[in-house]
Amino acid sequence: MNETLTIALSKGRIFKETVPLLKQAGIEPVDDPETSRKLILDTNLPHVKLVIIRATDVPTYVQYGAADVGVAGKDVLLEHGGEGLYEPLDLNIACCKLMVAGPVNAEPVNGRMRVATKYTNSAREYFARQGQQVEMIKLYGSMELAPLVGLADCIVDVVDTGNTLKANNLEPREHIADISSRLVVNKASMKMKHALVKPFIKQMEQAVAGMAK
Ligand code: ATP
Ligand code: PRP
Repeated sequence: MNETLTIALSKGRIFKETVPLLKQAGIEPVDDPETSRKLILDTNLPHVKLVIIRATDVPTYVQYGAADVGVAGKDVLLEHGGEGLYEPLDLNIACCKLMVAGPVNAEPVNGRMRVATKYTNSAREYFARQGQQVEMIKLYGSMELAPLVGLADCIVDVVDTGNTLKANNLEPREHIADISSRLVVNKASMKMKHALVKPFIKQMEQAVAGMAK
């Protein structure tokens, strides 16, 4: 068999937390993306490659088959919509919560609340479910700054320890969803590369079960 299994990962948190699972599955990267400028990393297995991309781009690469499988946060998957993807496994890593947060002791807002977030789809859907009309302001990072400088009344962002909120005099208000990272698989790869993809999912499943012990 000379087919390649391409795995999409993002640098930082997801790479760090996925590497121990990959190791359990018998896959070890040759380079470290934190020090290497390479975007395609070899592994100890000649037929397994890693592509290193932005966290928000992982579902897109996998959807279009540029990578067969990938690891993405549920926050990113909810925002993407999941088209063209299977989501066979919760890896139980990079766990956090998607939340509405705002300034401590804020006055009630008159009229439409302004919400700053990079999660505009999830946020719109959440506030629509609450029957609340809001104005959405799309940002790409540092959402916590928006209420501090009067750009928005509140934010929708992921929260883990709550330290970032606290450090900026913000508080969590509403819980939208529990988040963890998921293994995603291209639908065509699942069929066409069955012999590579199925055992990989199985091994990752066992690795996750092993970590939970
Ligand atoms: P991009 O580079 O595309 O903007 P990002 O900077 O959000 O993405 P990371 O910070 O590496 O990328 O986060 C990757 C995933 O880890 C997120 O999609 C989310 O699921 C999860 N995550 C983000 N922040 C935390 C946190 N503080 N604690 C635990 N998990 C987190
Ligand atoms: C994430 C998120 C929050 C912070 C929450 O940022 O955007 O700012 O983590 O975590 P906490 O509740 O434990 O403080 P991250 O550290 O990933 O930085 P980035 O989004 O700028 O990459």
